[in-house]
Amino acid sequence: MATYKIAVMGGDGTGPEVTVEAVKVMDAAAAKFGFKVDKTDFDFGGERYMRTGETLPDCGVEEFRQFDSILLGAIGHPDVAPGILEKGILLKARFELDQYINLRPVKLFPGVDCPLKGKTPEDIDYVVVRENTGDAYTGTGGFTLKGTPNEVAVQSSVYNRFQVDRALKYAFEYAQKHGKKARGVGKENTLGLVGKTNVLTFIYDLWERAFNEMGDAEYKDIRRDYYHVDATCMWMVKSPEWFDVLVTGNMFGDIITDLGAMTQGGMGIAAGGNINPEGVSMFEPIGGSAPKYTGKGVINPLAAVCAMAMMLDNLGEEKAAKKIEDVVKVVTGTKLKSLAAGQMGYSTSEVGDMVAQLVAD
Ligand code: IPM
Ligand code: MN
Repeated sequence: MATYKIAVMGGDGTGPEVTVEAVKVMDAAAAKFGFKVDKTDFDFGGERYMRTGETLPDCGVEEFRQFDSILLGAIGHPDVAPGILEKGILLKARFELDQYINLRPVKLFPGVDCPLKGKTPEDIDYVVVRENTGDAYTGTGGFTLKGTPNEVAVQSSVYNRFQVDRALKYAFEYAQKHGKKARGVGKENTLGLVGKTNVLTFIYDLWERAFNEMGDAEYKDIRRDYYHVDATCMWMVKSPEWFDVLVTGNMFGDIITDLGAMTQGGMGIAAGGNINPEGVSMFEPIGGSAPKYTGKGVINPLAAVCAMAMMLDNLGEEKAAKKIEDVVKVVTGTKLKSLAAGQMGYSTSEVGDMVAQLVAD
């Protein structure tokens, strides 16, 4: 029987409480689908930082390398200055473990209130493959004449061909395996590049050339589209049904996936994976730590449950992942009054119990 070693990092705010529910569902899935999970808790986060000054130490990264995957709750603490925990924990894990893909499904579940008029779950069902190591996130840049009226700040978008190629390869493969044709809901598998070739004439020129070269050489069966990022935002609201798999750089990917999350019903449901296809990946609900709800038992754990399902899928437990997603659909479609904190009609742990029970059935 397969045994997976999972590092569980609940993190800050409501992170730990939603993670507990995700683990509850994971245990139910393990029993049902015949695998084992060996969990280890880690307390990296704001509280530990305030106690010890430590974010994610190098030895923590080394420990993470021993695991099959990492399940993360949320990072972000109101008493810690912005940037410290994000850079020190989240981005450090992404960079050090070379989790070069940030996979973010944008999927409207049944029963979920969609802010886009007239759109149904059939219309909002696509995936953003966000490159996760480069762009403005490399921190290349600096100040000159800081604090003077002539101050200059520079922060560069940085990409090399290797980073672009490996992200594109993942995206093409993903489109081949999980695109609309592969899922039986469309005629073609389509990969859309999201860029800004009209202004970022270096960075997205590189992306576009690499995209077309790889498509012509290896993925002739996949239809290719190109969208400027601003137009993408427009179509994400107006015609999300056009999209299948999208691929883009780190910064645009960060922005458009928050827009995507809103169109799928908000932060209570959106999940993402920081994936190193050859290494240790990390899965997280993308909603943040929601500190004001901490400990109240009112926050929705479904995003964390969906992140955990993505983790199982990535580990090769596809049946378990599919079952969990189907159960989440039943829960949103027939049980919860709303996804919003305090308005679900159930507590956080009641939702976890309900999902775990339905997975076990
Ligand atoms: C995300 C977050 C992070 C990012 C922050 C917290 C550093 O917004 O996962 O999208 O910008 O990548
Ligand atoms: Mn973001």
